[in-house]
Amino acid sequence: MNRREILQASGAFLFGAMIAPDTLYSFPEENNIILPDFKKDDFGKDFLWGTATASYQIEGAHTADGKGVSIWDTFSHINGKIVNNENGDIACNFYNQYPNDIGIAKKLNLDVFRFSTAWTRLLPNGTGKVNQKGVDFYNKIIDQCLKNGLSPWLTLYHWDLPQVLEDKGGWANRDMIDWFSEYTNLCADKFGDRVKNFMILNEPTIFSMLGYLTGKHAPGHTDVTKFLKVVHHISMVQAEAGRILRQKVKNANIGTTYSCNIVQPFTDSEEDKKACEKLDVLINRMYIEPALGLGYASESLPLLKNIEKFMQPDDLQKLKFDFDFIGIQNYTRIIAKYDEKAPLMGIKFVEAKDRNVPNMTTMKWEVYPEGIYLILKQFAKYKNIKKIIVTENGAAFDDKLEGKKVHDKNRVDFFEGYLAQVLRAKKEGVPVDGYFVWSLLDNYEWAEGYFPRFGLVYVDYKTQKRYIKDSGYWFQKFLKKR
Ligand code: FCB
Repeated sequence: MNRREILQASGAFLFGAMIAPDTLYSFPEENNIILPDFKKDDFGKDFLWGTATASYQIEGAHTADGKGVSIWDTFSHINGKIVNNENGDIACNFYNQYPNDIGIAKKLNLDVFRFSTAWTRLLPNGTGKVNQKGVDFYNKIIDQCLKNGLSPWLTLYHWDLPQVLEDKGGWANRDMIDWFSEYTNLCADKFGDRVKNFMILNEPTIFSMLGYLTGKHAPGHTDVTKFLKVVHHISMVQAEAGRILRQKVKNANIGTTYSCNIVQPFTDSEEDKKACEKLDVLINRMYIEPALGLGYASESLPLLKNIEKFMQPDDLQKLKFDFDFIGIQNYTRIIAKYDEKAPLMGIKFVEAKDRNVPNMTTMKWEVYPEGIYLILKQFAKYKNIKKIIVTENGAAFDDKLEGKKVHDKNRVDFFEGYLAQVLRAKKEGVPVDGYFVWSLLDNYEWAEGYFPRFGLVYVDYKTQKRYIKDSGYWFQKFLKKR
């Protein structure tokens, strides 16, 4: 055993993880990886490179050390909701394997480790009594990042709402503003001495639409009125939490993240264009515009007018917050058309599989690199966005473990294509200053379960062993400090 292997073995022992040391990671000298024409330095000296993760998708240990139940714990256990009825009870066992996993992130030459805190580990009852063991866990994550020279970027909410709060109405209850404030205050107090970079919400569009309109995600509602309330409370929360962090955390860099996709009409017909204009509000504009002081885009999407019913006199003012950065998360593009039979607003997605696209991921998302350029340009049109970070981008492919290798050339091609387009936007003046891959590890992909693999690192869920994919080595080489 060499020194690293001994260290790994003792680390595994100490942290209770059953991992054979020789399969933690093996880093060959540069492998046979061929780099693209562009270089890391072309993005600028201060450009940040990272990976993104989320608590429910990686941690496992769903009942450990006093953790409370989240809506995802509940939802994933309801028969028929998730592909193969899979749940995140164990996931990647990051709760126990984090020293190894953060070590891998460092070895890949990354600057940033993005993770989210599980509200239910910190406040098992949503509010009230603090669970010290939960605080200890995130302190260990943060310290481990710092020890490895990685900057911890903390997402406050990546979808795992405490079930007890859902039982009181969840996001549809205006008390969410107070509940979330309490949680934010706690995170600021406990972690704000070492964590400076915060993202308040992960993709409000997705968790509100899938959780309250289509019912595909937790908590599984399909209720338009609830959805509209939820939209407003989320918007209030994103600004209020921003104010709390600004007041409490010295030198904080505060942002929030949005899933966004360029929306293009299927044909040139006026009807298709109109449908896409509405969809653009739902997908890209609904949450950022209130924060920028523009209110809800109800002129383009009259449905949002109904939100006024839930607004109190000062709300319009309170929706504003001056974010230091906006996180954009992009994977594909959307093509849509008008269809009078489509529910709600007569909008129908034209799926990639019905369009004969040359390249799709396991999620059946079209690989469309120019989409990230176009959406960056669209967001850059807002006058008061100071900085943009791509807080998620990546692809799931049907990876095969061959021996200890995963030759994921399709993923390497994906990154080359998308990064070239990020660089193109940057060269044209878009203030984009960072790029985080989704994700470090293969993980639990919500309603899809475990079959989509997004990681730079392959996870064998049976043994919980990790294997760096070629795309991981690609990043390691691309980011190498020369
Ligand atoms: C994003 C989510 C993230 C992951 C990726 C594939 O929408 O933020 O948790 O599921 O998609």
